[in-house]
Amino acid sequence: MSGTKLCLPAPAVRSADNGPLTALRSSAWLAGDDEVALAHRVALSSAGVPVAKGRPVIGIANSASQLNPCNLPLRDLVGPVRDGVEAAGGVGVEFPAISLGEDLMKPSAMLYRNLLAIEIEEMIRANPLDGIVLLANCDKSVPGALMGAISANIPAVLVTGGSRPVVSFRGTPIGTGTSLWRLWDERRAGRLDDADWRALERCLACGIGACNTMGTASTMAVLSEVLGFMVPGSASIPAGDPRSAQAAKRAGEAVVRAVFDDRRPQRLLTAGSFRNAIVALNAVGGSTNAVIHLAAMAGRTGVAFDIADIASVGRCVPVLADVEPSGSHLMADFDAAGGVPTLLREVAELLDVEAGTVTGERIGEIAAAAKPSSGAIRPADDPLRTGGAFGVVRGSLAPDGAVIKTSAASEQLLRHRGPAVVFHGYEDMLARIDDPELPVTADTVLVLAGCGPVGAGMPEWGMIPIPARLLSAGVTDMVRVTDARMSGTSFGTVVLHVAPEAAAGGPLALVRDGDMISIDVPAGNHDESPETQKSHIGKCDIEISETEMSRRRAEWVPPGTPHLRGWPALYASHVTQAPQGCDLDFLRAPTAAHRSFIEPVVGRS
Ligand code: FES
Repeated sequence: MSGTKLCLPAPAVRSADNGPLTALRSSAWLAGDDEVALAHRVALSSAGVPVAKGRPVIGIANSASQLNPCNLPLRDLVGPVRDGVEAAGGVGVEFPAISLGEDLMKPSAMLYRNLLAIEIEEMIRANPLDGIVLLANCDKSVPGALMGAISANIPAVLVTGGSRPVVSFRGTPIGTGTSLWRLWDERRAGRLDDADWRALERCLACGIGACNTMGTASTMAVLSEVLGFMVPGSASIPAGDPRSAQAAKRAGEAVVRAVFDDRRPQRLLTAGSFRNAIVALNAVGGSTNAVIHLAAMAGRTGVAFDIADIASVGRCVPVLADVEPSGSHLMADFDAAGGVPTLLREVAELLDVEAGTVTGERIGEIAAAAKPSSGAIRPADDPLRTGGAFGVVRGSLAPDGAVIKTSAASEQLLRHRGPAVVFHGYEDMLARIDDPELPVTADTVLVLAGCGPVGAGMPEWGMIPIPARLLSAGVTDMVRVTDARMSGTSFGTVVLHVAPEAAAGGPLALVRDGDMISIDVPAGNHDESPETQKSHIGKCDIEISETEMSRRRAEWVPPGTPHLRGWPALYASHVTQAPQGCDLDFLRAPTAAHRSFIEPVVGRS
């Protein structure tokens, strides 16, 4: 065992739960003079981990992988994190975590978010860790890692790798995802030739890091900072910026202090924390996927979370981040404008300023110390738009709710009625969407069913392409309704996350071509129903009689599952619907009630 000099006085000891100070959690493994404690110390010492009495052992969960370019900047941040841990008196232990790469994992990285959460929770549970630094960046890596840390409930700090470099195509800076979707439509409409398409491919392979728009990864980084899991101001630092290493070192220092001060996730996360996150989500015009992730994280704390709050809280929030896809700038500009602290300063009146963070600072203190808004963060009195960035709808087509990103939709389509053209699954949609005989007009409502969490693992298939015939005629947006998700970098008038999903017997499974579908997203602002007005939810209905609906329901045959083994089979058997965060049903509970599962019996293995 190393005799490394402590940089801080030996900490007072703590209990394993949220109770009074008694012992470092790792001491259950490492303290004592018997053969078991000796073997544990030897295991760490042999791996180059200089354990010593009173030094918190900090896990460094590293999800860098060549299968996930978004997470590759994390490789260079392990060292600075470890430096910070050691400077503050702890000892860092790096271990690998599953890397959830949005681009390559099929059918969707979303299928594996909960697997990462389980991995993080179980690695903490099974090992002598007092705190953890989570190195994650891409869309599902961040919520998955946080969900696991919340359930394990030891002090946790998140370090992200930042957004990738900005490149120009045809002389114009382009954002990851958003520009590709727009240029693919140009290609399908015959306005982008082969040479340009190849040039675009070379252009997009510009470097590592997360999507540089306000996609899901950037949104989740922002929300993680607002929820108190990050060093203030670090969520938007671009990949490769020298400030990344400085922030990583501060994260390492912060987690050791959080261990000494017992700042655990389930203490930090309050209803006010989640309300703050909803405010921030609306203020940045963030990804719809964040609604699912917030619901999942709240579910693990016991904080009540209703997706209607996205609209009811959001309607008071100005959209301030002028970043694609809701605005015109990119994440580097958001960072230059002051990042999350400046955003918080602009919406401070809407925040629970007493909400805590892992560093010990209150959210109100961080907002008060921030610089004023400029550039890509608009001042609150000059927003991009008012009334928030999201709508939530319910109705006969979505009894348990659905979400739409109004800030990236067409205003004139938010109240719309049209006949349905229905696709049952992604392959059906791909096979027919550009069929010249497809009976579509600009008023058609495109319905994509069978792509929810049980049916398909809920991929980002929701931004159904505009049929080529209409695209060529100049149609750029249509109403679409689906139980799938869409990328945070996507746009359009798309009603997403319809619950219950088709594969679970939701009404979406019963829609047929020609059925009239109506949406009224702003219904809460004008509807006379007190219930609708109170919640500010809109409507999403199928206009067929209850008799006809019952007849179709009686005829409906549940689809067989393709998931017969392994993780997908377990997932499909236990995944909840989108309003519950698509978490597994047996993981949705605060762990305070199950301490025996979190603190294993430590003896011979
Ligand atoms: Fe990984 Fe966008 S695909 S952050």
